[in-house]
Amino acid sequence: MAASKRKTASKMAAKTAHKTADKTEAKTAIRTTAGNTSYNARSVLVTGGSRGLGLAIAQKLAAAGYQTIALARRETEEVAAAIARAEEAGQGALAFVPFDLGKIDGIPDLVRRLRKQFGPLYALINNAALGLSGTLALMHHTKIEEMVRLNTLSPIVLTKYVLRGMMADGAGRIVNVASIVASSGASGVAAYAATKASMVGFTRSLAREVGPLGITVNAVAPGVLETDMTQVLTDEQRAHVARRSALNRLAEVGDVADTIEFLLSERARNITGTVITVDAGATA
Ligand SMILES: NC(=O)c1ccc[n+]([C@@H]2O[C@H](COP(=O)([O-])OP(=O)(O)OC[C@H]3O[C@@H](n4cnc5c(N)ncnc54)[C@H](OP(=O)(O)O)[C@@H]3O)[C@@H](O)[C@H]2O)c1
Repeated sequence: MAASKRKTASKMAAKTAHKTADKTEAKTAIRTTAGNTSYNARSVLVTGGSRGLGLAIAQKLAAAGYQTIALARRETEEVAAAIARAEEAGQGALAFVPFDLGKIDGIPDLVRRLRKQFGPLYALINNAALGLSGTLALMHHTKIEEMVRLNTLSPIVLTKYVLRGMMADGAGRIVNVASIVASSGASGVAAYAATKASMVGFTRSLAREVGPLGITVNAVAPGVLETDMTQVLTDEQRAHVARRSALNRLAEVGDVADTIEFLLSERARNITGTVITVDAGATA
């Protein structure tokens, strides 16, 4: 979309946001800095943006000037503090939207609501996921189903609905968060690795499908990061991964967030259908 058109659309979104804020907040408890910051920025949606990697991505994109929507089931103290900081800094705005991505049938309405409140979505970061580990033979199939639903089905359906707006706008960026285990493999994460590998196949094919419309689709594959998801690892296991990495350390959430910020920038306009590994050389 041309800059002037985008500006007008964003201004309209700002007005809509102000008008509907009270109603929507009452209904869905959306936390936003919209009252004090400009909506002239492009809107981006980060799923699983309440903590861990998603929060780091949301903060990075808000600081880079994007109107950032962090989505998760529950608002955390960390995301509330990040919203307050973004407001103080007067950078891009940061908002929190509560939604359970396991509720696939609610996704079309969610996307309609987001578009109404925040204007056209320029980028979607499919980051929310469940990282269940354990011996496959002992894993209950309902747990496997829950993980496949959140890690594979939900981002595909969410992308489907967000994509329609991007297609109409003739621009957009999609980044899927995969993992190095999608290609390297590791014992105890077979079902999880399958969901992450599915994101890679999804990325490559969708990039072909929507490239002619000016939309890029990429994946990032992080190595082990210090988040709630990896709390099951012992310090010794973490140190072992670090020792075996080319750089003798673990990558950090900020490294992955930097990569995603780059993929959303003009500098990455000719990068699509690829996977960028951020693992401090764990798989080198
Ligand atoms: N940590 C690692 O070492 C590592 C390595 C490689 C790849 N990754 C990938 O990086 C991404 C982020 O991982 P992380 O370590 O930051 O995970 P995390 O700390 O467990 O955070 C997961 C995020 O997803 C949200 N979420 C979970 N279930 C949800 C649902 N049903 N609906 C909406 N949101 C939901 C969580 O908030 P709520 O619980 O409040 O909903 C939270 O914001 C994932 O795709 C993961 O596979 C992580």
